[in-house]
Amino acid sequence: MDDEIQKLVQSALDKAPSTVEAELKQIQELLLKRKNTEDLYSNGVLSKFRLDGQVALVTGSGQGIGRSLAHALGEAGCSVVVADINQTTATHVAAELGAKGIPNLAVKVDISQKSDVDEMMRITLEKFGQLHIACNNAAISSQSDAEFTEEAEWDSIFGVDLKGTFHCCQVEGKHMLEKGYGRIINTASIIGSIVTRPNRQSVYNTSKAGVIHMTKSLAAEWAGRGVTVNCISPGYVDTDLIRTEKYLPFRTQWVKDTPMGRLGDVEEMTGAVIYLASSLSSFTTGSDIIIDGGYTLW
Ligand SMILES: NC(=O)c1ccc[n+]([C@@H]2O[C@H](COP(=O)([O-])OP(=O)(O)OC[C@H]3O[C@@H](n4cnc5c(N)ncnc54)[C@H](O)[C@@H]3O)[C@@H](O)[C@H]2O)c1
Repeated sequence: MDDEIQKLVQSALDKAPSTVEAELKQIQELLLKRKNTEDLYSNGVLSKFRLDGQVALVTGSGQGIGRSLAHALGEAGCSVVVADINQTTATHVAAELGAKGIPNLAVKVDISQKSDVDEMMRITLEKFGQLHIACNNAAISSQSDAEFTEEAEWDSIFGVDLKGTFHCCQVEGKHMLEKGYGRIINTASIIGSIVTRPNRQSVYNTSKAGVIHMTKSLAAEWAGRGVTVNCISPGYVDTDLIRTEKYLPFRTQWVKDTPMGRLGDVEEMTGAVIYLASSLSSFTTGSDIIIDGGYTLW
């Protein structure tokens, strides 16, 4: 539109008597200034958050935080692999992305099984050719008094949350190192750094502490080879994970212990992930971004 107006102004200027020439020149300068400002924004900092043409994979994206990350990455321009142990929810979220015109793929995976994770990667590469961004977000939680915790609980939590996340990082990282580019973003938790109350979950807490340190270890190993590894640590976020019966009695205390006085929303996790996935995070690796409404301040 501005170009059209510019042409009209120029043609008026060519024919204009000297009385209106100064005013027309002023309009022309104003239009030019506005155009330059628009160019600055369209090619400026916000465009560096765009992820057009990239391929992202999100585990545990059949619901909750993962679903929100899948949508955000798709909206930022990625093709998205929706990976979850629950085939039905994965397919549903993939269809939601499809309805927005986002290229997608639903994959059933149990991240605790290395063969499943290998297959997830194989299918991803078969469909999209490359993986640029991986959000390892799937996890399960548990609740028990430490003196009575069963060995089976330890094995299942560590099998999914820590070993499963490692399987994903390993397979994704190997591919990304070969390509010389990749962004890995793990979902840890504030309970990997502090102990919240009144819930008793030493196993889950310890597994998430492991995710944070594993993130740092891989970041150090792969730094300088094009692959960054970071994590986010949510505080309490209103998802099915904490709506389960075992956690319901604790929610009031968690809200009280959060300076902002509320639970987080899944969408509030997306900004940090888009940043970590973008070119603007190229000097950020081994970081743990805490998103907790201030919980860890008290
Ligand atoms: N909700 C919170 O308050 C909170 C707080 C801190 C950290 N987190 C972390 O955020 C992540 C997402 O949590 P959420 O609240 O969205 O949980 P959620 O339970 O709503 O979703 C977890 C998803 O992971 C999938 N999943 C479970 N086991 C899997 C496996 N073995 N293989 C593949 N997929 C599997 C589930 O089917 C589900 O779709 C988790 O890592 C969790 O520990 C959540």
